[in-house]
Formats: sequence, C-alpha cells, structure tokens
Amino acid sequence: MICKEMKGKTLVISGGTRGIGRAIVYEFAKNGVNIAFTYNSNEELAKEIVEDLEKNFTIKAKAYPLDILEPDDYKELFKKIDKDFDRVDFFISNAIISGRAVAGGYTKFMKLRPRGINNIFTATVNAFVVGSQEAAKRMKKVGGGSIISISSTGNLKYIEYYSGHGTAKAAVEAMARYAAVELGEFNIRVNVVSGGPIETDALRAFKNYEEVKEKTAKLSPLNRMGKPEDLAGACLFICSDKASWMTGHTLLVDGGTTFK
Ligand SMILES: NC(=O)c1ccc[n+]([C@@H]2O[C@H](COP(=O)([O-])OP(=O)(O)OC[C@H]3O[C@@H](n4cnc5c(N)ncnc54)[C@H](OP(=O)(O)O)[C@@H]3O)[C@@H](O)[C@H]2O)c1
Repeated sequence: MICKEMKGKTLVISGGTRGIGRAIVYEFAKNGVNIAFTYNSNEELAKEIVEDLEKNFTIKAKAYPLDILEPDDYKELFKKIDKDFDRVDFFISNAIISGRAVAGGYTKFMKLRPRGINNIFTATVNAFVVGSQEAAKRMKKVGGGSIISISSTGNLKYIEYYSGHGTAKAAVEAMARYAAVELGEFNIRVNVVSGGPIETDALRAFKNYEEVKEKTAKLSPLNRMGKPEDLAGACLFICSDKASWMTGHTLLVDGGTTFK
C-alpha cells in the first residue's frame, strides 16, 4: 500500500470493467479504497470483478449499470451508491462509448454527422458534468474530494478518424478547469489525466490499430505503447494527499509521444 491515508475512502468510477477503468479500480483497491464502479454491457464480468476485489482486498466493492449516453442517470446511480457506501471521496469519469453510437463521430472530417458528434459530446462532456455534480454534493459533506476526467492526447495531436473524440476531449478538459475554480472552496480538486495511445479494447477498435501501435512505439522515447496501469498510477497520485495543491491541471501520461 502506497497511500495509507486513502484506506476506507470511496472511489466512484464509470467504466470499471475493462481497460483503463479496470486498472484504476485495482490500483485503488490495492490501497484500501472502497469501489463503486459502473458497467454498461458486461454485467457478468462486473460481478466477477466485484467478487475478485472482495476476495483479494479488504474493501467493499459494488458494480452498477450505467449508460453515459443518458447522463441524468447519474442522479439515480448516486442515490443507490448512498445506500451502499457511507461516503464519496473520489470520482473518475472514465467510460467511453464505441460501436454504433459513435457512427458519424468516429470518422474523417468530411464524413462527420451531427448525431455522432453529439453522442460523443454527451458521453464525454455531459456525463462528466452530471457525474461530477452528484459526486461533489457528497464530497462537500466529507470536507472535500478529488474528481478526474480521463482525456486523451488526441485533442492535441492529429489522430486519424478521431476528430469527434478529440474535440470532445478538448471540451471536457476546459470544463474540468471551470469545475476546479468553482469547487476549490469546498476543498474539491478537479484534474484531468490525458493519456497517449494505451493498449485497450477502445484502441483495438481503431480501424488502423496495428499501424497506431507500431507508430506509437516508434514515437515514444520509451519505445512502447502505454498500458492501462500507466494511467492508473497517475490517478492514484492525483487523488492522494501528495497532490493536495494540484487542481485545474491536465497531467499528460503519454510516454513522450506528444512532443515528438
Ligand atoms: N485506449 C486509449 O488509447 C486511450 C488513451 C487515452 C485516453 N483514453 C480514455 O480512457 C478512457 C477509458 O478508455 P479505455 O480504452 O479503457 O476503454 P475500453 O477498454 O473500451 O473500456 C470502456 C469502458 O466503458 C464502458 N462503457 C462502454 N460503453 C458505455 C456506455 N454507453 N455507458 C457507460 N459505460 C460504457 C465499458 O463497459 P462494458 O465493459 O460494460 O461495456 C468499459 O468499462 C476513455 O475516456 C478514453 O477516451 C483511452
């Protein structure tokens, strides 16, 4: 355990079943943090993760269904979490949509369609807003907390087919800075962890995945693509007391790929 002060606190995170969200769930559980995570399609997998977490760590874990295309559902979700957990200390807006919902959004600029762009914006920005509002109400009651939006360097650097996601990520980073200013008086810190290409299902769905993988390894001075655990460590740091004066910040965890 690295961050002893986090033991007994509660993390709420969207999209805890796979990729980066799952790595964050395990990183926080290792540090004694109770976990409320959401899933969308993988109910069985979510149940398995809950069992595994409770077996291997002395924490409470629970999984809840959520569709980030319906951001207002966060209100009911947090009411359920209130019944199961006595406090909320950390909120990480991590989930991402894929498949049919991003049609017209995950494409070349000339093929973009408002519906696809709107879906991505809703799932990225509106979900962050409503989830953070609900989390902040609970954090105020316990004297503060830490909110993180997971972003990607695709808003700083061109990635083929990524204009819909890249612009929504730029927007959520700006939104996080606004939230940071207005929530600071409640000792709630709001930050962004922005990742370079990380090996997960979301990236494997890229039409040119193999090419991205190869290019990323070449671009990184560390000569490899990112792993979900690379972002999980950054989230743990930001939620810990070690980052107590860090707010309104975007932390790039990109293996040096953005500069090169
Ligand atoms: N992979 C990268 O290269 C990369 C780089 C930088 C930043 N990021 C960011 O990191 C975050 C996580 O990405 P990832 O690569 O870990 O994704 P991933 O492996 O595809 O996992 C997506 C997660 O989101 C959930 N989800 C899918 N559709 C949803 C919906 N409609 N409503 C609610 N939850 C939904 C999934 O739940 P189910 O399993 O139940 O479907 C799953 O837990 C995203 O914000 C992404 O933009 C990714």
